[in-house]
Amino acid sequence: MILRENLGNVLKEIYDSIDGPYFGVFMFHLPYLVLKSPQLIKQVLVKDFSNFMNRTWAQAKHDEIQKNMMFFQHGEEWKVTRYLNKHSEAVDLEHLAGRYVLNGISRCFFGINPHCLEDGVKSDFLEVIQQGSRPSTFDGLRLFCYLYHHELVDFFKLNMFDKKMLDYCSSTFNDVLKTREEARKSSNMRVNDMADIIIDLKQDAEYNKNFDFGGDKVLAQPFMFLLAGNGTTTMSFTFTFYELCMNPDVQTKLRDTINEMIEDYGGIKYEGLMDKKYNYIDMVLAETHRMYPAIFYLDRTCTSDIQLAGTDYVVRKGERILIPTMALHYDEKYFPEPHKFNPDRFLDRVNEDGYYYVPFGEGPRECIGNRFALLNLKIALANIIPNFSIERRPETVTKMRLNPVGISAIPVDRLIVDFKPLK
Ligand code: HEM
Repeated sequence: MILRENLGNVLKEIYDSIDGPYFGVFMFHLPYLVLKSPQLIKQVLVKDFSNFMNRTWAQAKHDEIQKNMMFFQHGEEWKVTRYLNKHSEAVDLEHLAGRYVLNGISRCFFGINPHCLEDGVKSDFLEVIQQGSRPSTFDGLRLFCYLYHHELVDFFKLNMFDKKMLDYCSSTFNDVLKTREEARKSSNMRVNDMADIIIDLKQDAEYNKNFDFGGDKVLAQPFMFLLAGNGTTTMSFTFTFYELCMNPDVQTKLRDTINEMIEDYGGIKYEGLMDKKYNYIDMVLAETHRMYPAIFYLDRTCTSDIQLAGTDYVVRKGERILIPTMALHYDEKYFPEPHKFNPDRFLDRVNEDGYYYVPFGEGPRECIGNRFALLNLKIALANIIPNFSIERRPETVTKMRLNPVGISAIPVDRLIVDFKPLK
């Protein structure tokens, strides 16, 4: 109580002075039984665990987050959190994917932990972002205007993204920036996420000459990354696990590859995930992106007249170009049996002479987040596939139907599969 000695040593002193398998102490007014005998310790911690499931700490009942932290949870609630992965479970892939992907993107680009992966914890960030994850008819109309009727966008001042969501995100990110800037004054704290990068740039005189960091302009890129990266990666995750469920041979080969990688590298390591020896992981993802491109086509507007090589066609300034990703990816000339999920087709090199496989686009305007997305997906596969067998359930749809609204591959049906624990 007078902080003369730490609790560990106080207990040790009593422990050393008392013979017998156990003794009693008072912590302030509360009596505790202290175990000395290794056998009794085993009984309490293991053999009769069900009699001693809870810790002695208070629970912050007034606060959803703290109350639901595993350390403080009691009884059944704790069991569900800790042992979720011990039971076979019906998993809604899009639901799981949405949480996993947003968690990673928020941490890397927004500098916040949105607690999307903690059971029983309500995540405001998740709710706000997922509001618009399923395109409505209005979203379809809005997209229609953005693509084909630019004058209506100007006339109605149409936003591409939900204003409420943008406001919520901007106040969150502004708070993060403010807190970080303050923290930098007192310590040299760095997380090396996007918030840190923006603060570095703000403080860099060279950049300040060319870029105005005032107002909301600075928020545009983190938003862009969130909005461009969240839905796309979520769908990749969803389709990959769905196809693994429908193609058990591929799943087994992938599991063997991942297990070998984990063994060779002593765990899931960045270097292992990048090692070409385990290229099958990349091949599986490549095949998902072939069958389910995030955007059905690439588009460009011509900015000055130019002749198409080998033809007499001159593309005029202002003319719009489409590159039909989906059609190319299902062209039998390049991909025999295109409706079959077959990662082995990527044993051969693609795009040797020109481009016909373009899930992330190509050239200087290709997807800026492709390596981030692939790494994120590989981490998910490496963690889940060695531990769970992804299997069909009676409600698993066998015929994939893609949502007609929008320009991205999104399933019409919920994709429900079984996650069966392997260990
Ligand atoms: C599997 C996930 C993803 C897929 C399939 C995907 C696909 C694409 C495609 C097809 C484009 C257009 C490329 C072109 O026109 O040539 C694009 C652009 C873009 N993507 Fe991704 N993307 C994914 C994830 C991400 C992530 C995680 C981020 C951010 C961290 C991101 C940020 C962007 C941005 C900012 C652009 C616009 C680039 C520019 O205009 O210069 N994407 N993406």
